[in-house]
Amino acid sequence: MSDPQTTPVPDWVWVPAASTIAREAGARLREYFSQGVATEYKGDVDLVTVADRTSEKLIRERLSAAFPEHGVFGEEGTRDRLDAEFRWYVDPLDGTTNFAHGFPQFCVSLGLVQRPAGLRPDEDGTMVAAVIYDPMRDELFAAERGRGAWLNGKPMRVSTTPELGVALVATGFPSRKRHDNPNIYFYQEFTLRSHGVRRAGSAALDLAYVAAGRLDAFWEFNLNPWDTAAGYLLVEEAGGRVTGFAGGHFRLDSKEVLSSNGLIHAELMGLFDDMFAGRNLEPILTPQEFAAHRAAQAAT
Ligand code: IPD
Ligand code: CA
Ligand code: CA
Repeated sequence: MSDPQTTPVPDWVWVPAASTIAREAGARLREYFSQGVATEYKGDVDLVTVADRTSEKLIRERLSAAFPEHGVFGEEGTRDRLDAEFRWYVDPLDGTTNFAHGFPQFCVSLGLVQRPAGLRPDEDGTMVAAVIYDPMRDELFAAERGRGAWLNGKPMRVSTTPELGVALVATGFPSRKRHDNPNIYFYQEFTLRSHGVRRAGSAALDLAYVAAGRLDAFWEFNLNPWDTAAGYLLVEEAGGRVTGFAGGHFRLDSKEVLSSNGLIHAELMGLFDDMFAGRNLEPILTPQEFAAHRAAQAAT
């Protein structure tokens, strides 16, 4: 890892203004969090609060003032200037379920993509800047393409963990359509093969933690561009890898993300391959088998 004492802070283009905006939105979230907020539903199980909406409104106004030419695409509905060359993907509160339950793991996520003229709407462009702010820990993760990844002004790197067996990994589950999602099987398999799987409830922070070397890998099904845009660049700039489950270029709308320190990426892709093919799975007792085993032990 580079020495934080000697590594010069980069000449940022977008990070300073985006950091100020993320900190201001984060401070607002912190206030709402300490007061407690009423929860509403978007659909059956997807939660939203006044904090999500207020944070997005603030970020939209501030980004538009700082970068009047840039587009803004926010989870809570902002769709401004989508034909612009630069577009911010905004998750104004990533970890809403945690927030609504008083569980202090959530963040603001801002990712900037450059979309040169002529790009088809389904093409991605290049991620150029990222800011993720955790207001409860006052941690600001930032990156610009080619300028490294930074945590509170110090350079950060992915871990050097060499194999899944000694890795700490993370995943998440959607609040909607959980029955259409096989991730519980992957959760089981990764739990049996690693030091553990964390399911902390903020995909953007999970990616920031891979970049910071606190997690060795993260995967999830069905995320959206506002969840992954900033974290994707953080991981790449910290020396890690982000792909789909079968490798290949990660796309913001690909609905699958596999990120790691790079060293264990091939092993993870092999496990996904095996799992989708139903090969080499670790057997575990069913609850019924366990109950029978327990009863037999009690009888002796
Ligand atoms: C959610 C979080 C969670 C992930 C869900 C996301 P939200 O975002 O990132 O960790 O598992 O899939 O929808 O709704 O809190 O912004
Ligand atoms: Ca989110
Ligand atoms: Ca959100």
